[in-house]
Amino acid sequence: MSNQFTPKISRLASTPFVWLCFAGFLFITSCSQSDGYGSSKLDLKGFDLAKGEQVYNNLCMVCHTPGMFGAPKIRDKSMWASRIAQGMDILINHSINGFNAMPAKGGNANLSDEEIKNAVAFMVSQSQ
Ligand code: HEC
Repeated sequence: MSNQFTPKISRLASTPFVWLCFAGFLFITSCSQSDGYGSSKLDLKGFDLAKGEQVYNNLCMVCHTPGMFGAPKIRDKSMWASRIAQGMDILINHSINGFNAMPAKGGNANLSDEEIKNAVAFMVSQSQ
């Protein structure tokens, strides 16, 4: 019985199609690893975290250090996980335009979008 089965497997394994599938699978898994998909950590390249920290210390900390009004506390990974899962675009959008008790630009309309982006990146860098 097994004699009938084994040759079929080896014939299948020798077809280029099977190897192509296998190569494709390896390709996809290696791509997704390098892109960071499937991992909850956000890529913060391109943000100026030092400038973001200054903005944070001047304003955002008022609510995000003590967790005032239900603000997610900086460095509290469990409070940040689901927020970070939304991705940088949504976090930045909510910070620039406001979101529930989170005031637009933290309440300081004089801050540029760039400053807000860096501040969000700094908060995420401390909280993921
Ligand atoms: C007056 C208090 C206050 C200040 C000041 C403040 N925040 Fe917030 N922030 C909040 C609150 C409250 C929430 C939670 C809103 C919610 O999820 O309902 C929040 C949420 C957030 C979130 C998560 C948004 C999301 O989509 O989950 C980010 C990012 C954020 N704030 C960034 C900032 C940045 C950057 C600054 C400084 C420029 C700042 N905050 C200043 C109160 C504040």
